[in-house]
Amino acid sequence: MSARIKAELKEEADKLKAQGIMPGLAVVIVGDDPASRVYVNNKKKACCELGILSEEYALPAETSEEELLALIDKLNCDNKISGILVQLPLPKGLDEEKVINRINPKKDVDAFHPVNVGKIMIGNYDFVPCTPAGVMELIAESGIDISGKECVIVGRSNIVGKPMSMLLLHKNGTVTVCHSKTRDLKEVTKRADILVVAVGRPEFITGEMIKEGAVVIDVGINRLENKKLVGDVEFESAEKVASAITPVPGGVGPMTIAMLMKNTLKAAIVNKEN
Ligand code: GUN
Repeated sequence: MSARIKAELKEEADKLKAQGIMPGLAVVIVGDDPASRVYVNNKKKACCELGILSEEYALPAETSEEELLALIDKLNCDNKISGILVQLPLPKGLDEEKVINRINPKKDVDAFHPVNVGKIMIGNYDFVPCTPAGVMELIAESGIDISGKECVIVGRSNIVGKPMSMLLLHKNGTVTVCHSKTRDLKEVTKRADILVVAVGRPEFITGEMIKEGAVVIDVGINRLENKKLVGDVEFESAEKVASAITPVPGGVGPMTIAMLMKNTLKAAIVNKEN
């Protein structure tokens, strides 16, 4: 699915370039978190596949907030750059909120800026956050109707859980968001027709917490001590009860990247007057 979307986006990128609209993505990474390095490499690789300019700004972990903000100011004014992505998490001492707030909302391809977050809540937006957008594509492309369904999200992060709840709500799902203080989690997850899990805990949701025939989307990616990559859902027990389930790796991850490319093309169009 992600390969097909990227192929379609490549055609779109070619058309934009023929009109003199040049999409360009700046990827900022601070410090040397190994998982962030993998994600950033995957994002740059996708840009390359689509023929989109990507510029990496790899800064040392000791970078000061002033230096990082100065870089964002520079990228905000750079006409070659249509989208700016600051890979999270940032090293300790750097205020993520302050950094995100500094990105021009028109270049905010992650849709993390409060202006874009607000637009998502209202339901009128240019940029949809990449992971929830990827989940929505997976559901739509699989021919699964959301309207009237019990949608349960496990995890309430700003990156996944909260925006995910809005996107499902806009499609007329009945949405419940669970978190660490939820009482009797299993009782809630068992109700789900569509279960989205984004808690960052390896194999946290097991088959016995899932209703027969549910659609299960696993946003988690965790590395076990034996180096194996697993999701937040115990795949082996969950696949026995689910009617559809995403694998880890190779499920939501590639869709997130495809949606980032979509947002980057959108940003090139939005910024073309600049
Ligand atoms: N860290 C984990 N997910 C994301 C994401 O979607 N975007 C950025 N910038 N950082 C992340």
